[in-house]
Amino acid sequence: MANNEDQFKKVISHAKEYGYIFGSSEIYDGLSAVYDYGQQGVELKNNIREYWWRSMVYMHQNIVGIDAAILMHPTTWKASGHVDAFNDPLIDNKDSKKRYRADVLVEDHAEKLENKAKKEIAKAKKRFGDAFDEEQFVTTNPRVLKYRAEKQEILDRMARLLEEEDLAGVKALIEELGIADPVSGSRNWTEVRQFNLMFGTKLGASAESATDLYLRPETAQGIFVNFLNVQKTGRMKIPFGIAQTGKAFRNEIVARQFIFRMREFEQMEMQFFVRPGEEMKWYEYWKETRLNWHLSLGLGEENYRFHDHEKVAHYANAATDIEFNFPFGFKELEGIHSRTDFDLKAHEEYSGKKLQFFDPEMNESYVPYVVETSIGLDRMFLAILSTSLQDETLEDGSVRTVLRLPAILAPVKAAVLPLVKKDGLPEIAHDIIDDLKWDFNVIYDEKDAVGRRYRRQDAAGTPFCITVDHQTKEDQTVTLRNRDTMEQQRIPMSEVAKHIQNSISYKEWLT
Ligand code: GAP
Repeated sequence: MANNEDQFKKVISHAKEYGYIFGSSEIYDGLSAVYDYGQQGVELKNNIREYWWRSMVYMHQNIVGIDAAILMHPTTWKASGHVDAFNDPLIDNKDSKKRYRADVLVEDHAEKLENKAKKEIAKAKKRFGDAFDEEQFVTTNPRVLKYRAEKQEILDRMARLLEEEDLAGVKALIEELGIADPVSGSRNWTEVRQFNLMFGTKLGASAESATDLYLRPETAQGIFVNFLNVQKTGRMKIPFGIAQTGKAFRNEIVARQFIFRMREFEQMEMQFFVRPGEEMKWYEYWKETRLNWHLSLGLGEENYRFHDHEKVAHYANAATDIEFNFPFGFKELEGIHSRTDFDLKAHEEYSGKKLQFFDPEMNESYVPYVVETSIGLDRMFLAILSTSLQDETLEDGSVRTVLRLPAILAPVKAAVLPLVKKDGLPEIAHDIIDDLKWDFNVIYDEKDAVGRRYRRQDAAGTPFCITVDHQTKEDQTVTLRNRDTMEQQRIPMSEVAKHIQNSISYKEWLT
């Protein structure tokens, strides 16, 4: 069986081979941590966005959407705290001239201890076979306990140092742990410095009159600054939400793991405005609702877990991540944060405008509290793509590569295949396409033997193939082949649309 690293490499090369993801400006050797979505990728991405949008906006009468600009008044970022505090601690290696995130170097070191613990567990599993009780082993084995305690102690110390902004302490920790540059092996480090992650740009024609702007590092602030516009024009009553999807930009230092951490990426965020004091109720509601949204796609319950933050940012009073089991382990996919009234209050202060809601039931005005759900569209894409890509050994011993994308998200819903390129079969296939194309993204494929075409569509993630053969001319029936089961059904041509429709009903998927 392929290990996780091999599986991840396979996902990356498959994504390119089948037109899902290309490196940005590849002919110029690419741009690090920036990616382009190809002809299949753009469809999958649009479908994920739509699946999220419908679940948020169409399924909740008290949630509406907006599309705010990427460029915003620069004071926005002062108020939000991004100018002063959206930093990563950086360290350079003097010998290799490579730059790293100091906290990631420490995390990677801690992860090595976790790997040692995992090795012990794997060894014991092999030794004891079916009699192995993993829970008992991990809670009693001295080596596993020691590795895990050491790991936790290191992470706790680093979190404390970062919170106290003790950068010299972070460097001392790196030296104490003997962490070496992963490239050169050198331990010759510079001091740790803070580095702001926002991309700056200029507005205006001449250098003298130009204003410094930032590319937004999150979409959320576009929602906060429009809170009153939407509340008033939409006559929204608390509790209500504003949803938005769009590009965000971060000058990530450690940009790696393909589209997991990008410099230009897309977020799907929703700010839910509530009465002060009711935020914890809504926080729990959104935790449950968002997990259910993920589970509705059928990628496997075991692939998700919550990671509740023990220490929360200064503006939050509760925060959790929904983590997903990516090929490189469980990592953050979505954040759910109870952000108090921090953002609206800060914008009130910096803009001098009141951002309050008059609550008729309470007969008073207040700055609402906010519960935020924030998910990276590209990360969701990676979660889906990496879980869906499977190698399946068939009864005859051959292996087929199949991309089991949830049908509702599949870029192409059906491929229409004439068995042969003559006898009027291509014309019938084109007629079928002309009928289906109004409701579904369908494609025509006539190249190669039909078996090879099936495999090609399996690997591309197309849930259905519709084959037109000579019998079609006699009785107007076609073969409908299912990607996942490989079952073939003879059905009347007139029922094809209904079959596809049934498999991609939002009502079925979202409930
Ligand atoms: N408004 C809150 C916010 O932006 P965040 O945890 O910084 O919170 C939210 O980001 C989500 O955006 C993350 O859970 C992740 O899915 C996605 N995300 C953040 N940085 C990213 C990056 N560099 N590349 C891809 N996705 C990213």
